[in-house]
This record gives sequence, C-alpha cells and structure tokens, in this order.
Amino acid sequence: MIDPYRIRKDFPMFENHIKMQGHDLVFLDNASTTFKPFAVIKAEEEYLTRFTSNTHRGDYDLCFANDSKVAEARHVVGHFINALDKEIVFTSGTTMSINFIALGYAAKYLTKDDEILLTLAEHASNILPWYKVSEMTGCKINFIPLTKEGRLTAENLKKVISNKTKIVAVAQVTNVLGFVNDIKEIAKVAHEYGALLACDGAQSVPHMKVDVKDLDVDFLSFSGHKLCGPTGIGVLYGKYELLEKMDPVLSGGGNNVKFETDVSVKYLPAPAKLEAGTLNIQGIYGLVAAIKYLEEIGMENIEDLEKNNRKYAISLLKHIPDLVIYNEDAESGIITFNMKGVFAQDLATYLNSKGIACRSGQHCAKLLHHFTGELATVRMSMYFYTTKEDIDALANALKNGGNFLDAYFA
Ligand code: ALA
Repeated sequence: MIDPYRIRKDFPMFENHIKMQGHDLVFLDNASTTFKPFAVIKAEEEYLTRFTSNTHRGDYDLCFANDSKVAEARHVVGHFINALDKEIVFTSGTTMSINFIALGYAAKYLTKDDEILLTLAEHASNILPWYKVSEMTGCKINFIPLTKEGRLTAENLKKVISNKTKIVAVAQVTNVLGFVNDIKEIAKVAHEYGALLACDGAQSVPHMKVDVKDLDVDFLSFSGHKLCGPTGIGVLYGKYELLEKMDPVLSGGGNNVKFETDVSVKYLPAPAKLEAGTLNIQGIYGLVAAIKYLEEIGMENIEDLEKNNRKYAISLLKHIPDLVIYNEDAESGIITFNMKGVFAQDLATYLNSKGIACRSGQHCAKLLHHFTGELATVRMSMYFYTTKEDIDALANALKNGGNFLDAYFA
C-alpha cells in the first residue's frame, strides 16, 4: 500500500513550494504534468555533470557509455510496456509520436477511399495529425459515437467501422472525461476489419500497467513528463513490422547508412531510422530513472491508490450544491466539473487563491463541447502523491466560496 505522505518526501517541489510561498501546494493538475522525484533530478544531473557526450558519433569511452545508456533505456521502456527493445522509438512526447504515425505511416499508405476513426473526446494531439493526413491523402475522418456517459465502447465502434477504416486512433484514458477505455476489445474489433489501432497512452501509461502485447495495440504513444520524468522526452511504440514500413518524418544525422548525389538514401533499420538528430539524452537518463521509480512503487499500487482517492473525492464533491460533475463514474484520477453560474476560469482562479492548482478551459479537447455542451470546465487530476488532505482542501474551497461562488440566479 502506498503512503502518499512518505512519497511526497521524494519530490522537492512540495517542500520548496512551502519555503517559497509559505503554504502547502495542492497540486491537482497531474494530467497536465507531474512533479519530479530526486531520482529523476539526480539522473539528469549525472548526465550533465559526469556523462555529457553525444551518442553513436564518437570513438571514446564517454560516447560508448551513452550508447549503452540509450540501449538500456530502450530495454527499460520495452520491459515497462512489454515491448521489444527495437520497438521503442524515442520522441519528444506524445504529440511527436502521434505525428510520426500520421505522417510517417498513414500519409504514406492511406488513399481517398480510406477512413480514420476518432472520437470527440480526443486531445488535439490525437486529432490534428489525422486531419493533416486527410488533407494530404483525401481520406475521410469519422467519429465513433460516445455513450450517453461519454465512453468509447467496442459496441459503438462496431456501429461505424467498415472495411474502409484503416486506422482507429483513440486514447486509452481520455484527458477530460477520464474514462478508461477497453482498448483490448477496441483493438480486436479494429483488427477484425483490417484496421490498425493507434492508442494515445498519454493519460494511461503513467497510471496503470499497460501491456502492448496483451492489448494488441499496433502503436502506443506516451510522454515522459506525465510519469514523473522530464519534459521533451516521449515514446512511440510500434509493432516492429509497422515501424519498418514507416517513413522517417525527420531525416538527418543518425538515421541513414548512406546517401548519394542521385538523391538516393539508404536508411538504418527502425528504430534508428525514426530518430534523426541528436537524441534528448538528458531526457532519456531522466525517463529511465522515472520508470524505475514507478516500477519500484508498483503500477498496481499506483492504480489502487488513485481509485481509492477518486472514490473519496467523488463522495465529497457530489454533495456540494451546484457543483456539476461530468464524469462521476469514470475510473481514472481525473474529475471534471463546473459550478453552476460560475465561469470555469473564474472558478480555477478562485481555487488558485486558496493554493489549489487545477486546469480550466477546454483542456485541448476542443471537440468535446459537441458532446458535453460546455465550452469550458475545471479539471482536477490526481497522482500517487495526492493525499486525502488535498481532496479535502478542494472540497472545502468549493463548499465555502461564499459570495464568489454564489453567482447562480437561474
Ligand atoms: N495534455 C495535457 C492536459 O491534458 C497538457 O492537460
């Protein structure tokens, strides 16, 4: 069982915030990014102070040490999601990973007769790259209907999928409604129709055990900074035969064997083919440390704690007058709400005045209003260092807003 109070000692942000601001920070914006433990900070410092060099570009010890580090990183990440080392591509984050699939795979193979299926609940990063593919190839973009509650189900996928569908691109956990989608079932249906399943794992991989072989996803994208790692480093997993079929979106040093004046190029095999330019080596050090840190805590323990925290939070929030919760029955640590008559950004600003950090607005899911009918919401999102006191602080602030939250005269 995780003790979040003990765990917080691993994260200097908490103590430093008290030193700087004189009060605790109630950080409930973990779907946006997460705090970094000392282990990650030390790993990055190690690269900066003891191991600075590039990879595969020099015949000296430091360079070999970093080659080994990158090989170790591929193994650590591969083990974390049950993939082969060679199926792990380092990117700058989820956005770049999905763009690589869209531009390096879909734009190459799809035609105007094909279709890509998305949902209204996707983040911009899992919509706009596919729009680009549509613009480039003429393929259609369609949307899988969500259930009344806002969930993606295999049943609803079956209602719209056809032999024209070539890619189903959906999040395992959506970033506003926070439902945990049954990706294994979704992948099964996609495959029955010969389509590929590109899974956005930005909000799932940090919070639960994700096994790409068990889920049978074709691609999985996620970011380091949402799992206690650094910003600017992320992962694209792809089944190896698909990575081999992809074109590199970025070309340059480190991704080719040779090129000639007749414009011919021979690329290296994947994953190197897809990793042109100097890697974010510092970020890779941090990512490895972050994954080892999470594994030591245990992904099952993280999931359990977040489920318990969610139950506790809902039990308090659902009794607050005029608070509208949009995803009461979701499974993740994301709870999205509004106070009747109060603009979401005003509510988040009021919470900030109480030392509580939440995100407000559209949360980059700019089609979701077609489903919820709301242009802006407030989102609280938890992680394994979230305490019951954090949740109490939010509930108390929402209950005791006084005049400020008394603006509802309907
Ligand atoms: N994708 C991040 C979020 O949902 C930034 O907040």
